[in-house]
Amino acid sequence: MLIIAIYLILLLILFFSLAALILSASIIVGLIQARGVPFVSIPQVDWLKVCQVADLQPGQIVYDLGCGKANLLTTAAKNFGVKGIGYEISLWPYLWGRWRIWRSKADVKVRLKNFFQADLSSADVVFCYLFPSAMARLEPKFIQELKPGAKVVSYAFELPTIKPAKVVDAVFKTSPITGKPRYTSKIYVYQF
Ligand SMILES: C[S@@+](CC[C@H](N)C(=O)[O-])C[C@H]1O[C@@H](n2cnc3c(N)ncnc32)[C@H](O)[C@@H]1O
Repeated sequence: MLIIAIYLILLLILFFSLAALILSASIIVGLIQARGVPFVSIPQVDWLKVCQVADLQPGQIVYDLGCGKANLLTTAAKNFGVKGIGYEISLWPYLWGRWRIWRSKADVKVRLKNFFQADLSSADVVFCYLFPSAMARLEPKFIQELKPGAKVVSYAFELPTIKPAKVVDAVFKTSPITGKPRYTSKIYVYQF
């Protein structure tokens, strides 16, 4: 009996070590593939605000480039009746996103693919939460592919040369430490 218990404990340790190894490897590989843009989610308090700032209309096609776990797209699809399309290069957030979409039954599709290979010509709105280097590489793609009237809504990071049509403070919060009011970030809206 004791031998079986020890055997089971060893098997469990082996299982969790393997899972931790696969998870760490997938995070490192994802970071390399994403050229250093890490998987960090927009704070939950801002999901709805980003959608409101984008002025989403039912039936619109909304992309999220580097969609992570599809927080924004599921929020947009469930609350505004849009169709979401996400691109995510890193396996772990992609799988998490698939699970979130399945659970929420939102009208969202995510692809495990580099967003530079996406055709953005049908997009009404494109969400981004990336780094300045990625925004600089995306700017010519936006100019070339986006249809007139399409919008890019970028959380925290600007496009290098195009001037935003508006810049909005993200959700108002009170700091739990100082008690002072503060905004979490800026949201940049570009009109094409
Ligand atoms: C800061 S996170 C934002 C996640 C999500 N948009 C959100 O707001 O919660 C950036 C994500 O972009 C992904 N990413 C970076 N470069 C990419 C690329 N070329 N193609 C697809 N995904 C990429 C990263 O793997 C990471 O998950």
